[in-house]
Amino acid sequence: MDKFARAIVEFSARVLRTVLERKVSHDRAFQSVLREYPQARRHAPLRVLYRVSHDIVSDYYTIRYLEKLIYGKRGGTKRLAKLWLLYRGLESPHLQQHLGSVERLRRKLLRSLPRAPSSVDEVLESIEDPAERLAVKHSYPRWFAATFIQLLGVEEADRLLEALNEEKWWIRVNTLKADVDEVAERLLDKGVLVRRDPDLDYMLEVIDFNEPLHHLEEMWRGEIVFQDKASALVVEALQPEPGDLILDMAAAPGIKDTLIMQLTSNKARIIAADASWERLKRTKRVLQLYGADTTKIELIHADSAHLALAKPPTKILLDAPCTSSGAIGKDPAIKLHLEDPTWVQRFPAIQEALLANASRIAKQAKTPITYAVCSLLHFEGEEHLAYNQALEPKKPPIPASNGYKLYGQLADKVARLFPHRHKTQGFFIANLEPA
Ligand SMILES: C[S@@+](CC[C@H](N)C(=O)[O-])C[C@H]1O[C@@H](n2cnc3c(N)ncnc32)[C@H](O)[C@@H]1O
Repeated sequence: MDKFARAIVEFSARVLRTVLERKVSHDRAFQSVLREYPQARRHAPLRVLYRVSHDIVSDYYTIRYLEKLIYGKRGGTKRLAKLWLLYRGLESPHLQQHLGSVERLRRKLLRSLPRAPSSVDEVLESIEDPAERLAVKHSYPRWFAATFIQLLGVEEADRLLEALNEEKWWIRVNTLKADVDEVAERLLDKGVLVRRDPDLDYMLEVIDFNEPLHHLEEMWRGEIVFQDKASALVVEALQPEPGDLILDMAAAPGIKDTLIMQLTSNKARIIAADASWERLKRTKRVLQLYGADTTKIELIHADSAHLALAKPPTKILLDAPCTSSGAIGKDPAIKLHLEDPTWVQRFPAIQEALLANASRIAKQAKTPITYAVCSLLHFEGEEHLAYNQALEPKKPPIPASNGYKLYGQLADKVARLFPHRHKTQGFFIANLEPA
């Protein structure tokens, strides 16, 4: 194996192992491996290491299926990285300048394999079970593909799972600090092709870009925020108004709070609670960067499942912790965490406890709740409301799809955003009133 191929395989294998063992995001695993194995940079460009390790994490389930076919049992992450180069390497846009190296490794590997299908497509044709086929095609756990087949049918599940793998960028212009047209023009001059969103006049859809977006000085100056349109629609569903006292029960790192202050021209007040001290510290910096009036925002370190307030809020926002299954396009590591049932099952329980307390506070204060999760899974959304007598859903006034049909009339009263329909992350949004 030449030095380039060896560096790519070794580096990506370590990233994959870090994601699996430490349950961290791809970005965090990448940074950690870069510190422990800096030599890789001598043989492969940083951008190639980043993109290839990202794609190997994203294609984990597909290559593991191939591994089982070829070897009959599981091996280490290095073997998975090599198999990825064998089956995906030639078509990868990030390896086009290194095809000689990839081809040499492929030939060597092919000679050593006991048996090898010629392509992923050939393998897909041989899989009869639709859930298994979609899971291998788009690289997800089988249960995940089966869930969306049940909720949306095979054809739409296919489109959803494909779109969910794609990274999509939205930019919110912070109108507390900048003008939308001016920012859009400046971004175009810098090679970031954006389109104004027809629904939200402060949102820009990113169509294309040359440089990494995180290099933009507009971000460091707090003029733009990388925020998905679906996340902005959560705040639109809340309908914040000047004079409101909003209880945000899961506030950190404060992105939605900065939008509340933007939409109310800094004239709302917020009680921003979060259970994570580290994330609250970041919230303070975020609020300052985006010009939110921090004298009107009270940060509270608390478990919101047990929070009690002296003063009744006028609105409640519960942007609950979740599997983040709707945000897989941003972080493919989420797919790997979904393999662990204990990890998945802890979220509905936390959401239930937070909703119960939100419901208690809302009843006393006679205020509405906006409940949201960046998840596509029904058991983090509709399921919480299907048998809930204490909360009455009212259709949120936002451009979105209804909930899953399986839930009958409830589906018409809640909102869902999907990557294949709305070009956003997957989100569930419900406006709830105490019954
Ligand atoms: C989806 S994030 C919130 C994102 C935030 N609303 C924003 O837009 O920037 C969920 C947050 O819930 C917090 N959290 C988890 N369990 C909690 C609890 N029991 N009480 C309060 N916050 C909690 C996490 O620390 C995390 O910051």
